[in-house]
Amino acid sequence: MSDPRRILITGANGTLGHATAQYFLQHDPDCHVFLGVRESRVRAEALVAAYPGRALLCPLEITDSASWNAALTQIENQSGPLSVLINNAGYHDDALLAHMTQGQWSGVLDANLNAVFLGCQAALQPMMHQRWGRIVNIASLSALHSPAGQTNYAAAKAGVIGLTQSLAKETARMGITVNAVCPGHIEGALPAGWSDEQIKAVKRETPMRRFARPEEIAAVVFFLASREASYMTGASLKLDGALV
Ligand SMILES: NC(=O)c1ccc[n+]([C@@H]2O[C@H](COP(=O)([O-])OP(=O)(O)OC[C@H]3O[C@@H](n4cnc5c(N)ncnc54)[C@H](OP(=O)(O)O)[C@@H]3O)[C@@H](O)[C@H]2O)c1
Repeated sequence: MSDPRRILITGANGTLGHATAQYFLQHDPDCHVFLGVRESRVRAEALVAAYPGRALLCPLEITDSASWNAALTQIENQSGPLSVLINNAGYHDDALLAHMTQGQWSGVLDANLNAVFLGCQAALQPMMHQRWGRIVNIASLSALHSPAGQTNYAAAKAGVIGLTQSLAKETARMGITVNAVCPGHIEGALPAGWSDEQIKAVKRETPMRRFARPEEIAAVVFFLASREASYMTGASLKLDGALV
């Protein structure tokens, strides 16, 4: 491939999405980064201003297949076919299962798992045409080591790992790799309402005694999306400072 890579990052205004977008823009001077945004976009707009012509806003509601089609058409028209998809957008809505509403269950499944299906399906068309592509799905440590109160989120993220392994087998002969990362806690993106004492306690439990910096997760995503990561597919990488 001599073309610039065209990268779509969903949830690009969020903590990890923004850090990942910035990492690509800083470390691959040729790439075009499409910043998937829904409601909040202040940080994404700052990247557009800092990297004119290389960072572009891309309105995207990840649970809506028509929105994916519109996003892929925008990318094709503004730059060319998509080559890298980072399924990063997601959220958690914790509750004990006994008290979890059906809306809490299905909302989290929709955004964290069904949206990954929609995104992968939309991205496969241009990638298969190019016979090259990279898909990186942001799962979570909660998929591997599921805490109480996250049945919905843990199930969704575990589903992402299964989808990743299965899709990697389907696309292996097409030059398209599919991998997942499973971050533990990320600095600057901790669950709302955590007290200082709770934060200190979880850091004490973590052998590295700290949480991940967003750019440390972004660096792994960047590698998985690189041309060099050509034999790595179907993997799910745990990034947790040896917590588990
Ligand atoms: N934070 C952590 O410690 C941690 C640990 C492990 C895994 N993760 C995973 O890492 C990813 C990023 O997390 P983060 O901490 O950076 O979260 P964040 O700061 O809350 O950002 C999440 C982003 O996802 C977007 N989003 C959510 N639902 C969407 C939808 N239906 N359509 C389009 N965009 C949507 C949000 O957009 P709006 O502004 O429009 O709401 C926001 O930009 C998530 O998949 C999360 O599960 C996070």
